[in-house]
Amino acid sequence: MKDIKSYIKNNKDRFIEELIDLLKIPSISADPAYKKDVIKTAETIKLSLEKVGCDKVEICETPGYPIVYGEKIIDSKLPTVLVYGHYDVQPADPIELWTSPPFEPVVKKTEIHPEGAIFARGACDDKGQMYMHVKALEYMTETNQLPCNVKFMIEGEEEVGSESLSWFVTRNQEKLANDVILISDTGMISNTQPSITTGLRGLSYVEVEVTGPNRDLHSGLYGGAVANPINILTKMIASLHDENNHITIPGFYDNVEELSKVERAEMAKAPFSLDNYKKALDIEAVYGEVGYTTNERNSIRPTLDVNGIWGGYTGEGAKTVIASKAFAKISMRLVPNQDWKEITELFKKHFETIAPKGVTVNVKPHHGGQGYVTPIDNTGYLAANKAYTKTFGVPAIPQRSGGSIPIVALFEKELKSKIILMGFGLNSDAIHSPNEHFGIFNYLKGIETIPLFYQYFTEMSSK
Ligand code: BES
Ligand code: MN
Ligand code: MN
Repeated sequence: MKDIKSYIKNNKDRFIEELIDLLKIPSISADPAYKKDVIKTAETIKLSLEKVGCDKVEICETPGYPIVYGEKIIDSKLPTVLVYGHYDVQPADPIELWTSPPFEPVVKKTEIHPEGAIFARGACDDKGQMYMHVKALEYMTETNQLPCNVKFMIEGEEEVGSESLSWFVTRNQEKLANDVILISDTGMISNTQPSITTGLRGLSYVEVEVTGPNRDLHSGLYGGAVANPINILTKMIASLHDENNHITIPGFYDNVEELSKVERAEMAKAPFSLDNYKKALDIEAVYGEVGYTTNERNSIRPTLDVNGIWGGYTGEGAKTVIASKAFAKISMRLVPNQDWKEITELFKKHFETIAPKGVTVNVKPHHGGQGYVTPIDNTGYLAANKAYTKTFGVPAIPQRSGGSIPIVALFEKELKSKIILMGFGLNSDAIHSPNEHFGIFNYLKGIETIPLFYQYFTEMSSK
């Protein structure tokens, strides 16, 4: 790939400005109030794909938000790279914790990003990372160096479970036929140590409702004599972990794969400082399942976490009341071989079983998805590693991530190709949090590394 460095240098400011424009549109898929903005974002991406030389760009309607599809087929005998990303973002709240408004992107320097980072909701997850691929294609078409075919599939419902994309993928296998799927929606170890994500956790997300008396009660007149749904819910939730922080749901661990000593030793080689980890989060100690390290706890082990809990009086001052109902949202991160639907059923059954008399329990499953692991001996992985080695000067380390992209397992099943998770975000980029940002270094490094992947993948595929 000729002159990539100078191309980036000459176009850097425009690359940043274009991304900033994209980040200004609040494409929050979870909140129907932003429907117009989500659709406007899809249209903006369609235009940007046309501009960088895709021959056929379409907004594909689905039962939910549309999928932007684009392709440039230069020779049917050459390999085809399918790029996946998402244009929807998480809600921005709690908005008061942002140091600049979430949809008014600004570049600020940080300790980790001395060259500056773009602060905005979606900067890293996933508009910034998705847009690297658009700009990498621009470079390849503008300089006549596109070595293979490319297809883009950018969806607008990733943050709410990718339901419409499942619908789309199962109906369009031929259109989406490819030799490798390339995704930048994960992270890497640091700006000096790249890594390639070789695993994602699965997910089961449920909402629970505990109902006691048929109305809110005076906590003096009735307190002590009836089951308080909030007391009961918290007690039930607390019982879901034992003293070793193992999850107590019967059957929960049945299919969990135990890694061998050798595999765990291999994992432990990745650079990691527990001190820095604690410092970055202002915590005195880490916490988790006994017998596993921090990096094992957040990647190869399943978890159960309350994501939100509410009920009763939470306004100003005090109100003496026993609420009629209490609620919680709970996520379970799963590892490969755990079936998310089965786990959801196990949770439901167990949660109903442990409810004491005097309350009723309702478990409502939300979305979920299977976990994913990939071997590292396939052409896609080797090509990606070669690309990273060239742009970072050191090989990438394979690493399993704790996050989930539920659609990835479906891609493998339906499209039968390998998925390469080439993420350029950092854990400190605060995705899903206030002050999400994406390093300018990371953005440009992505644009530099992606064309090399295309080149090496094409070369290595023809051997
Ligand atoms: N891009 C993230 C997932 C991710 C981030 C994986 C960093 C690995 C490293 C994705 O947008 C996401 O947030 N996924 C959700 C699941 C989804 C069903 C809401 C998640 O992991 O919570
Ligand atoms: Mn994402
Ligand atoms: Mn996300």
